[in-house]
Amino acid sequence: MERLQKYLSAQGIASRRKCEELIKEGKVKVNGKIVKVLGTKVSKTDEVLVDNKPVNNIEKEYYLLYKPEGVISSVKDEKNRKTVVDLIDTKARIYPVGRLDYDTSGIILLTNDGELSNLLSHPSGNIEKLYSVKVSGILKGNHIKMLESGIVIDGMKTKKAKAKLKKIDKANQKSYIELTITEGRNHQVKNMFNALGFKVVKLKRLKYSFLDLTGLKKGEYRPLTIKEVKQLYNIANNQTK
Ligand code: URA
Repeated sequence: MERLQKYLSAQGIASRRKCEELIKEGKVKVNGKIVKVLGTKVSKTDEVLVDNKPVNNIEKEYYLLYKPEGVISSVKDEKNRKTVVDLIDTKARIYPVGRLDYDTSGIILLTNDGELSNLLSHPSGNIEKLYSVKVSGILKGNHIKMLESGIVIDGMKTKKAKAKLKKIDKANQKSYIELTITEGRNHQVKNMFNALGFKVVKLKRLKYSFLDLTGLKKGEYRPLTIKEVKQLYNIANNQTK
């Protein structure tokens, strides 16, 4: 048994919040009756309709996108800016798994599989994300150590991370770092460097778990293979236990 709004979002109908709205608006029927109570429990054997259309067995789609800068990581934008969903040619109601900032480029997954998306975004999840970071200023060894051991942001210490100083450009006063983190707090990478007094001037996500950008140019995407989807499920399930 599962809460109706969670079930709907896991079926790829929309985000959890949007599904709550659909329920409150009376658009959802369970076994022939309109249900407006959030949290009503349903199971796989119940017949669930949204706008009188069955929601079970919607085909799941999974994409890996090389997000360019200047694109927003959501389904819709109130300022009508281009979104990551606009870059993918599909009729499925896909949405991004997590977020990259407007000015960040790199790997991002999109799917209509709410179950996988929830597992991957779980706060206790431990999915490694590798970023290439360019900052203003010259980083020292002690900064790398601090990035790795954890930095207090908004009263909470970041989890252990891996940091590698790749290059120092003395002439232009820039440093290049590769940082691997397992959390996904808002603007986490930028905030970690800000806390040390460095401004991030360029940010790109190179890897999401075992997935990278091989074969893709900015703005291009590919579907995930079945094997990759299974692997993501395995990793996400093991790491939330
Ligand atoms: N950390 C950030 O600060 N921005 C991103 O887009 C991703 C991680």
